[in-house]
Amino acid sequence: MNSTTLKRIYISCAPGLEPGLIREARELGIKRDKSKQTTDTVSDLPTGEDKGGIEFEGTDAQIYQCNLHLRTASRVVVRLGEFYAAAFSELRKKASRLEWEQYIRPGQSVAIKVTCHKSKLYHSDAVAERVLGAIEDRLLRAPKTAENDKLVQVVLVRLVNDLCTISIDTSGELLYKRGYRQAVAKAPLRETLAAGLLYAANYQGKTPLVDPFCGSGTIPIEAALIARNIAPGINRRFAFMDWPTFQKDVFQLDLDKSRKDIQSTDQFFYAADRDRGAIDMATANAARTGVNGNIQFACHAVSDLPHFDIPGSLITNPPYGIRITSSKDLRNLYASFGKVLRNSYQGWQVGILCSEEALMAALEIGPAQKVIHLINGGISVKFSLFTIS
Ligand SMILES: C[S@@+](CC[C@H](N)C(=O)[O-])C[C@H]1O[C@@H](n2cnc3c(N)ncnc32)[C@H](O)[C@@H]1O
Repeated sequence: MNSTTLKRIYISCAPGLEPGLIREARELGIKRDKSKQTTDTVSDLPTGEDKGGIEFEGTDAQIYQCNLHLRTASRVVVRLGEFYAAAFSELRKKASRLEWEQYIRPGQSVAIKVTCHKSKLYHSDAVAERVLGAIEDRLLRAPKTAENDKLVQVVLVRLVNDLCTISIDTSGELLYKRGYRQAVAKAPLRETLAAGLLYAANYQGKTPLVDPFCGSGTIPIEAALIARNIAPGINRRFAFMDWPTFQKDVFQLDLDKSRKDIQSTDQFFYAADRDRGAIDMATANAARTGVNGNIQFACHAVSDLPHFDIPGSLITNPPYGIRITSSKDLRNLYASFGKVLRNSYQGWQVGILCSEEALMAALEIGPAQKVIHLINGGISVKFSLFTIS
């Protein structure tokens, strides 16, 4: 087994972010396998081509690359095996034939996550127990089990119509955890979702970026990371680093190159919030990524948002009912935001993440040119794109 041996790799993302992920993957030179209509191994995403992620054949080096570079991916898994199992003995026997030794050291801690649908084996704890037994059979030593330990190797087992798919997590903590955001304001966006909004708005780091409701700064920080070509995973660990087959030199080469490829930018990033605590957190988060020098943070209400001469992108996630407050004052807030957009942001591309039609209507900036359906914090939201005229 070497760095060029091909494996089936699946990259998952939040529903709605697939186009951005596909674009990013293409930029990394990944040719996805359109014939595979698969879904995330652990969640119940709807089936269909590219729903919830993409699958392709790739090398270990590409697994490292995907984790290090993809901004919209939630996690990357490698398919270890797929077989039919309608009895526990069959499951254990077939699972013990898989090449566990590539990913798990004897005695290492593992967490087995199981989902079962329409299968004779439907008791997930019993399935997990047999898979643990299979690992022990293969490695001649029982793995330790753990639920929440960050350092465990996660194994994903999915049974659908008696077809068992076993995947090995390559990421460790979910990829939205870039490592820079230790402080969060109210209702923060996941970094992967913020990057997905920027991709959906076709933001490429070549124009000014404004976020008047920046909270902990996720959108402007992700924008500055794109503009400066800073790889999102540059400061974190990944599960693959603990594999017995981890090729440190291959990963180190890519990591060193990513550090060399960091660029400067003369674009401006303006991030405001009326909450002083949020601005302090956002500033600290930006400092941890090294982009604080690029972003101008300001503490003021949206009604005081300044005008900028050069048009760019205003991408934002204002408060909306369910996550922050259900106050009717929100309608006034959107009306006042809409007035600022109409008066001072002609020619700008504006992208707004919101769950409520009534609030979007209060903006009075006309119909959206494009609407993308997403999930944020467990609720359905829409990302609406406009050009202010
Ligand atoms: C949904 S949160 C934004 C979260 C942010 N995207 C993040 O990742 O942390 C909305 C933010 O709008 C701010 N806000 C509420 N009313 C405001 C107003 N009138 N002007 C400016 N900011 C306001 C809140 O303080 C809050 O931080």
